[in-house]
Amino acid sequence: MHSVNDSTSNNSSRLAPSSERCIRASLSELRHRQRMLVECDGKSVLLIVTSAGIVALDPTCPHQHVRSLDRGTTDGDTIVCPNHGWTFSLRTGKAIVGSGCIRLYPVHTTDAEAIVELPDERPRWMQY
Ligand code: FES
Repeated sequence: MHSVNDSTSNNSSRLAPSSERCIRASLSELRHRQRMLVECDGKSVLLIVTSAGIVALDPTCPHQHVRSLDRGTTDGDTIVCPNHGWTFSLRTGKAIVGSGCIRLYPVHTTDAEAIVELPDERPRWMQY
């Protein structure tokens, strides 16, 4: 089951998994809300609309390994953690202020949807 939270509202969203490893989000709703936090099988994925397109990322900040980037501020293609100001590129995931990197997920768009591909993180022996 997939659910959506938005740090600025409690609106629900139309999300439907196309498979166990994909998240689909309505493009019109995402553009309206500018960001969506999606919970999928215990994993959080933050979708953000940027000037360069839609970015999907793990909202866990590598500084203290806490989910905080869903409350982060964006400026162009960067996101700033609200806790201590570490700043990350939304193009590469690499830290601009601080160290480490955030995890970015591939996003494809259709006319109506943003589709996030989640990696299969099961042990290799379980993937077949
Ligand atoms: S937890 Fe993100 S900068 Fe400290």
